[in-house]
Amino acid sequence: MPRRAVIAGNWKMYGTVAETRALLRSLRARLTVDDPNREVVVAPPYTALGAAAEELRGSPIELGAQNVHWESRGAFTGEISAPMLVEAGCRWVIVGHSERRQLFGETDANVNRRARAALEAGLRPIVCVGETLAERQANRTLDVVRAQARAALLDLGGAGIQNLCIAYEPVWAIGTGRTATPGQAEEIHAEVRRIVAEAAGAQAAERLRILYGGSVKPDNIDSLMAEPDIDGALVGGASLDVESFARIVEFRT
Ligand code: PGA
Repeated sequence: MPRRAVIAGNWKMYGTVAETRALLRSLRARLTVDDPNREVVVAPPYTALGAAAEELRGSPIELGAQNVHWESRGAFTGEISAPMLVEAGCRWVIVGHSERRQLFGETDANVNRRARAALEAGLRPIVCVGETLAERQANRTLDVVRAQARAALLDLGGAGIQNLCIAYEPVWAIGTGRTATPGQAEEIHAEVRRIVAEAAGAQAAERLRILYGGSVKPDNIDSLMAEPDIDGALVGGASLDVESFARIVEFRT
């Protein structure tokens, strides 16, 4: 069975409520094709989630958040829980983004806890993994990605793994305009699929959607999506431009 593609827009810290409403209205008007073989997700900032849910009512575009805490409530100033995201209308959540790991001290262990909490609440986590430039130059890419993927998947169980996506995002490609070549990305995606097969069996690995992220643009999406183990994209900068994001959603292979 072919895997359904996922194109997810990570808006990062862009998007007031007013901007979010305007962007989603244009996107809905522009994306007229409702293709059952592609899932489209947008992840605006927390404060815009409620407005985004309203704007997306009746649309096939699904809502995601950019992070989630592992507890459902408690004294965790500044954090948001999975049940809160569900209530706000989210179906998806990004976890372990490299900006969270690098700038906010997130670790493999707490990325795994976040993913588990998301799954328990019925959210679909998009778990990010990826090496830095120094790690790639030191030929450590495979080791780093293997370790991150194994740690993220710990104790999720086969059922959990069915409901998540992994995003391979080389840190050196994020927001830099430098993208991994389709061949470089495919090598890592195939390895991630092998790791999932070890952790959860061949069938789960076959079904898992592995997204590529890092300077995905209209002019590179088609060649990335042509690779057998690239099942979608996590798009930062280009997801804030309606025409670019729409063209990425409408990738052709
Ligand atoms: P970019 O960001 O597309 O702007 O490189 C991707 C991401 O950080 O998820």
